[in-house]
Amino acid sequence: PQVHWIMRNGDRVSDDVNDGTNLMDAAQMNGIPGIAGECGGCLSCATCHVYVDEAWLAACPPMDEVENAMLDIVTSPRQSGSRLSCQLIASPALDGIVLHVPD
Ligand code: FES
Repeated sequence: PQVHWIMRNGDRVSDDVNDGTNLMDAAQMNGIPGIAGECGGCLSCATCHVYVDEAWLAACPPMDEVENAMLDIVTSPRQSGSRLSCQLIASPALDGIVLHVPD
C-alpha cells in the first residue's frame, strides 16, 4: 500500500510499502526523521509514535492495552490519532494512509 508521511515542516514522503511490513520499519527504510523505533517494534519504547490522519483512524486495527498504556508516555502530546507505528501493519486496507510525524 501507499503510505504518506507528513513532517511538521510540511515535507512529505510517500512510499509503496510491502504488505506485512510494520510502518515503523517502513519509516526507517524511508529515513523519516523522528521515528526512532528504538525497541525494534516490540512495543516497549514508544519512539515510533505517529498521528494517524483522522480520515484513516477507522481503517487502522484497534490498539491493544499495551499500546494504549505506552501512548501515555510518548514525548510528544498524545492526540486522538496517536498510534505506535510498529503496531500498524501495511495491508491493502491502509492503502493511501496519511501519518503525521511528531517533532
Ligand atoms: Fe518501540 Fe514501536 S518501535 S514501541
